[in-house]
Amino acid sequence: MKNQYLLGGFVLAASFLVTAFPALALGDVSYANDVKPILHDYCLSCHQPGGKGYERSGLDMRTYESLMKGTKFGAVIKPGDSYSSVLIELVEGRAHPSLKMPYGLEGGLAKDKIEILKKWVKQGARDN
Ligand code: HEC
Repeated sequence: MKNQYLLGGFVLAASFLVTAFPALALGDVSYANDVKPILHDYCLSCHQPGGKGYERSGLDMRTYESLMKGTKFGAVIKPGDSYSSVLIELVEGRAHPSLKMPYGLEGGLAKDKIEILKKWVKQGARDN
């Protein structure tokens, strides 16, 4: 009897965790559920036609394909290698400070969001 209650509580807690922190709880980061919402909220305003990030660099973040295509100079994501991916370099502020992304955002992107982007790149930057 008691065990059933315990098990029920455990299942509830686990499903809460999975709902609240899908990327962290499952370990597998999803482009559609985890990455795209971050890019949408923090990058897209400038990185689509008409935005100054797009006009200056050619980087369009509207779709997975356009994101992977990168800037007019080439890819900004190297699947499996977050350290040498330019996009990660810029959100971490490892390049020149004037190139920290999101451009002009005081304090930069939150650590947990950077971690999600990094993890996704490390896992192969899949369209998942
Ligand atoms: C307020 C506008 C703005 C926002 C928001 C913004 N960017 Fe940018 N981004 C720019 C501009 C402007 C450039 C071109 C910089 C330059 O070449 O001087 C750029 C360039 C880039 C580049 C290409 C750098 C290169 O190699 O030429 C990357 C990668 C990038 N942004 C990533 C991001 C990411 C990731 C986000 C969101 C986390 C983001 N940006 C949010 C304005 C923005």
